[in-house]
Amino acid sequence: MVSKGKDSPLTVLGIETSCDETAAAVVRREADGRGEILAGVVRSQLDLHAAYGGVVPEIAARAHVEMLDAAIRQAMGEAKLDFAALDAVAAAAGPGLIGGLIVGVTTAKAIAIALRRPFIAVNHLEAHALTAGLTDGLDFPYLLLLVSGGHTQLLIVKGVGSYERLGTTLDDALGEAFDKAAKLLGLGYPGGPEIEREAAKGSATVALPRPMLGRSEPHFSLAGLKTALRREAEARAPLSQRDIADLSASFQDAVADIISDRTARAFDLYQQRLGPGAQRALVVAGGVAANRRLKAALETVADAHGFRLVVPPPELCSDNAVMIAWAGAVRLSHGLVDDVSAPIRARWPLDPAAPPAIGAGVKA
Ligand code: KG4
Ligand code: ZN
Repeated sequence: MVSKGKDSPLTVLGIETSCDETAAAVVRREADGRGEILAGVVRSQLDLHAAYGGVVPEIAARAHVEMLDAAIRQAMGEAKLDFAALDAVAAAAGPGLIGGLIVGVTTAKAIAIALRRPFIAVNHLEAHALTAGLTDGLDFPYLLLLVSGGHTQLLIVKGVGSYERLGTTLDDALGEAFDKAAKLLGLGYPGGPEIEREAAKGSATVALPRPMLGRSEPHFSLAGLKTALRREAEARAPLSQRDIADLSASFQDAVADIISDRTARAFDLYQQRLGPGAQRALVVAGGVAANRRLKAALETVADAHGFRLVVPPPELCSDNAVMIAWAGAVRLSHGLVDDVSAPIRARWPLDPAAPPAIGAGVKA
């Protein structure tokens, strides 16, 4: 195995296949901790899943098989690098859809074996968590709000591999709630951008509940909000354009209130845990972080608590391989490498010690 000293730059190929994006990227991490994106390729499978209103695992796995080699070739071409220039190969090894993970991890292991370089099994959630180090040079610790189609969590990021989960969802993930809300309003998939677009045309005139507000632990629950939205939509059926816009605006406002309240609670816990001297920064990651209304709400609550808000650019917030390559490079710089026996993990919590949230379903 060829390995470099601590003071050399590290160049890593990253592969992401945990859900419905087939992605490959090359990132370089300098010895001083700064990062540079040499290439980032994302081939979305959206068209393949849109008709079903969600990701179909078997279709996703097959599409990864068909698209991954070309995505890797393109990334290496854009980086203008030969495979021999790589110091390691990283792949998302979980959490996610098993079929897709197998494709990415097996490919990465094969390349690593051929090159005699380390393979690095990256936790997809850790990759989201570490992105702010690449985009903003942010040091530890910070608070992370991870809001995607599959995850809704508030975590203290203390260091590489060191996380404390403060809150999670008891039922639906936030992006999933947007997707379901859009579906019941007759809008397309993915639902988040559709709801945001409709909301801009309407006013938040429909009273909807804000579940969990004021609860001491910063957990989320979104199923009741979705049910209330369904009831309001059914009461107005058939829906006019105006109804759709107003219901979208009302839903989005309810979500903004919920995440402001839950994040405010997490700010308090963060300071209790780490003390008043700890860096105050909130990083938002996941596809939902693209929503401008939610970002504005988070800006307000972060300001009020003296926290700096860090939101990486949308293409690095939603699923991508740059974050996998970067997480791989950071782990490599800490000597954290795996071998080809590293398992694939459908579930892989960042904080395995976190107690189950009371009332939580399987998704928590
Ligand atoms: O992180 P992501 O691209 O994929 C994973 O789920 O891992 O997140 C996708 C989710 C979808 O549920 C989508 O509806 C939501 O992010 N989303 C949004 C917006 N853009 C994407 N939700 C609210 N507002 C948006 N503008
Ligand atoms: Zn993700």
